[in-house]
Amino acid sequence: MPGIVIVGAQWGDEGKGKATDLLGSRTDYVVKFNGGNNAGHTVVVGDEKYALHLLPSGILTEGVTPVIGNGVVIDLEVLFDELEALSARGVDVSKLRISANAHVITDYHRTLDKVTERFLGKRSIGTTGRGIGPTYADKINRVGIRIQDLFDESILRQKIEGALDVKNHMLTKVYNRRAVTCDEIFDDLTSYVERIRPMVGDTGLELSRALDAGQTVVFEAGQATMLDIDHGTYPFVTSSTATSAGAALGSGVAPSRLDRVIGIVKAYTTRVGAGPFPTELFDEWGELLRKQGFEFGTTTGRPRRCGWNDTIITRYASRINGLTDIVLTKLDVLTGIEQIPVCVAYEVDGERFDEMPVSQSDFHHAKPIYENLPGWSEDITGARELSDLPANAQAYVRFLEERSGSRISAIGVGADREAIVQVHDLID
Ligand code: IMP
Repeated sequence: MPGIVIVGAQWGDEGKGKATDLLGSRTDYVVKFNGGNNAGHTVVVGDEKYALHLLPSGILTEGVTPVIGNGVVIDLEVLFDELEALSARGVDVSKLRISANAHVITDYHRTLDKVTERFLGKRSIGTTGRGIGPTYADKINRVGIRIQDLFDESILRQKIEGALDVKNHMLTKVYNRRAVTCDEIFDDLTSYVERIRPMVGDTGLELSRALDAGQTVVFEAGQATMLDIDHGTYPFVTSSTATSAGAALGSGVAPSRLDRVIGIVKAYTTRVGAGPFPTELFDEWGELLRKQGFEFGTTTGRPRRCGWNDTIITRYASRINGLTDIVLTKLDVLTGIEQIPVCVAYEVDGERFDEMPVSQSDFHHAKPIYENLPGWSEDITGARELSDLPANAQAYVRFLEERSGSRISAIGVGADREAIVQVHDLID
């Protein structure tokens, strides 16, 4: 029975919620396996709108057990703020499970994130400033603090002191900031201990047992393929594995337990933060996509950079993630555009590229080669079957499907939860 992975196939904010909704009540577990509170999704349930940054969206679905896996970095203040806000609105949050091996974001990680960005100047990444990168850096450097360390005061003190030895030199001598004391960090982290204790366990074991028992586990990636630390547009990436392989790494479930990989592709493309983006639009078309698609960040409120759909990226994402299905989102945003350009190749210094260039410098200079597809003007928000879509919209979908190499199983045609054209079942 299925282990299902959901990943963003572009630069994030593709609308993963649509896929999670489609799986809905047939899901037993929803696992967040990478990232932290740099993510942001708005979930609408009935008349209620919830903005989540850290918690897996499954927390809002009755009967689902939400899990924060070992691959996640946790800001404890954000965690409890989100839990309290949900509880106050009557959401049952008692089922949440948290891996003992997840890492903790501290105050010095947040400070370092912001000051390093400032020091990078023109080369800054445009991070969310939530301390994500510095926390992952500590994990790899083996000076991180894990959730399980909170339960051993002597170990916790040793680890904080060890980390601060170096951090305080950096903060005071390199970045001209004040030093942080071990007590400050210790007191802050231990203030959460009793509340978090009942939620913590061996979530890898719990998830493997759930799969053994035939339950459905959905692994929901934060960020997206092109922001993946290994396969994205490095260094303009996040610091975790946002591709399907991360579902195994970041949850403690073996790769062989993953049956389906659903990639979310927006009908056009958006990106937040710095870095190359070949189909980016700087004219009124970019403005139109931003306005029609409400393209402003959930976490930071930043306007998103907008551009046409890029099939080179989708094909790359199909391959890297092993996509079995695509959920195409926001097709309705393109309604009313007479000719819709779709990127089919790049040109770099006179040379044509049909796949992602190996060299990042080439990618920075890539100019899109477009094919123009005829648009449609009919309102498509009521479409529920492929045949309800105007012929040109169907042709647009087929074109993206052929170029990406993975079947399109569902199409988002509006903001409402039900505004979906379902082509293939995502669980069977
Ligand atoms: P960080 O994850 O805060 O370190 O930021 C690294 C890069 O990833 C920046 O360009 C961010 O804008 C981008 N990023 C991080 N999280 C998201 C997300 O959920 N959606 C889109 N972009 C994101």
